[in-house]
Amino acid sequence: MAAQKLAGVKGMNDLLPQTSARWQRFEEIVASWARSYGYSQIRTPIVEPTPLFARGLGTVTDIVEKEMYSFRDALNGEELTLRPEGTAGVVRAVIEHNLLYDGPRRLWYLGPMFRHERPQRGRYRQFHQVGVEALGYGGPEVDAEVIAMGQRLWDDLGIEGLQLQINSIGDAPERARHRQDLIDHFEKHAELLDEEAKRRLHANPLRILDSKNPAMQEIIEQAPRLIDYLEGPSREHFEQLRGYLARLGIEATLNPRLVRGMDYYNRTVFEWVTDRLGAQATVCGGGRYDALIEMLGGKPAPACGFAIGVERLLDLVEQAGGLGEGDAPDVYLISSGDGTMAAALHTAEALRARGIEVLMHAGGGSFKSQFKRAGASGAHLALVIGEDELKAGEATLKWLREGEAGQGGRQVRIRLDDAPEAVGRALLGQTDED
Ligand code: HAM
Repeated sequence: MAAQKLAGVKGMNDLLPQTSARWQRFEEIVASWARSYGYSQIRTPIVEPTPLFARGLGTVTDIVEKEMYSFRDALNGEELTLRPEGTAGVVRAVIEHNLLYDGPRRLWYLGPMFRHERPQRGRYRQFHQVGVEALGYGGPEVDAEVIAMGQRLWDDLGIEGLQLQINSIGDAPERARHRQDLIDHFEKHAELLDEEAKRRLHANPLRILDSKNPAMQEIIEQAPRLIDYLEGPSREHFEQLRGYLARLGIEATLNPRLVRGMDYYNRTVFEWVTDRLGAQATVCGGGRYDALIEMLGGKPAPACGFAIGVERLLDLVEQAGGLGEGDAPDVYLISSGDGTMAAALHTAEALRARGIEVLMHAGGGSFKSQFKRAGASGAHLALVIGEDELKAGEATLKWLREGEAGQGGRQVRIRLDDAPEAVGRALLGQTDED
C-alpha cells in the first residue's frame, strides 16, 4: 500500500520556484531601498520568550489573546512563541546588545511571522514582513522620512492605488483622559457591546475601537476621538509631521479611528490601505513607539517604524505587471558523444568564473531533446559540444531567441578555450564579425 501523502500546515505556504524568483528580485530591491535610507539589516530569531510579546504588545490584544503559536520547550520548560511580528524582537536585541550606546540606529528586517488567524487571500498563518525601525529618534522628521520610505518603495515597485491613512493617538496622559471618557461612552451603551468588548471595557477599551463587529460600528463611530485629546507637544509633533508630508507631496488622509492592534504605539500611527486585495486591505502599518524600549528593560529611547506584509504587496506587484523577474540562464550547455561531458563540465565552470549563468544539460539524451530543453529554459544562447567540435577543440554557439539583434537561429563555431570571451561578447550583443 502506498504511504499516505502528507500536506503542509494550513495557512503556511510553499514558495515554489516560479514564485521564489519573484521574491528574490523583490528582496534585492528591498535591500538596496533600505540601504539608500541608511538602514542596516538585523536578523533576529523566529522563536522568542513568550513574555516578550505579552509585555511588548499588550496582554489584551488580538495577537496575544488568540493568535500566538506558543508552546513550552519540552527540554527546559521555557515558554516560547513563534514571533507574530518583528518590532518586539528587534527591540529585545537592541537592548541585549546595547546597540544604542553610541547613538540612534536605523534597522530593517525581512522574515516570516506567525499568527493563528483564519486563512484567506492575503491572510496566512505564516506570512512575511519587511520592517524598518528607527530607534533613538524622537522628532517628527523621522516619522516623515519613514513614511516617505514606504511611498518610495511603492513607486519603485510600480504600485498605484494605495491610500495612506494617519492618526495621532497622543501620549500616555492624553490616552488616560480619553480612556475614561471612552469607558463612560461604552458603558452608556453596554447593551450593544459583544462579549469580547465587555471583557475589554475596563482592561483595554481602546481595543474595542478595533472591533469589526458590524453591530458595534455605530457606537464605535460615536465614541470620543483620541485626536481631540491631544495637547501641546503631541499636537505640535503631529502638525509638524503633516507639514513635512505636504512638503514631500505625500497625500495622507486623517483617520481618527485608526488605533492599530498593539499597545506599544503612541503619537503617530499610520497604515497604507488598498481596495485591490479583497478583505485584507492593509499592506503596511506602523507608527511611533516611544515607550517600548524602556518597557522592555532598556534605557528610555523613542522609536518609530513600520512593517509591510510581503504577500499582500507582491499580490499588488503582480496586478501591476510584475517585476520583470525570471530565472532564465544566459547559456544552456549541450553535449553529446564520447568525452564531451568532461569538456562540458569544465567549460561551464570557466563560463561561471566569468559571471555567466550556465544551465548545463545533465542526464543525456539526443541533441534534439537537449535543444528542446534549451528552448524551454529561456536561455539566450546554447553552447554545443559534440564529438566533432571536441576533436577540433571547438564548440558551436547558437542564438536561441528571435528578435535579439535578429539573430535567432544563427550559429557560429568558437574555440573552446575562448568560450568565456566569445559567450561574454555574444551576451553583450556583439557578434564575432563585429
Ligand atoms: P501589523 O499591522 O500587525 O504591524 O502588521 C504589518 C503588516 O503585516 C500588515 O499591514 C499586513 O500587511 C501584514 N500582515 C499581518 N498579519 C498578516 C497575516 N496573517 N497574513 C498576511 N499578512 C499579514 C506590525 O506587525 C508592527 N510590528 C509594525 C511596526 C513596525 N510598527 C512599528 N514598527
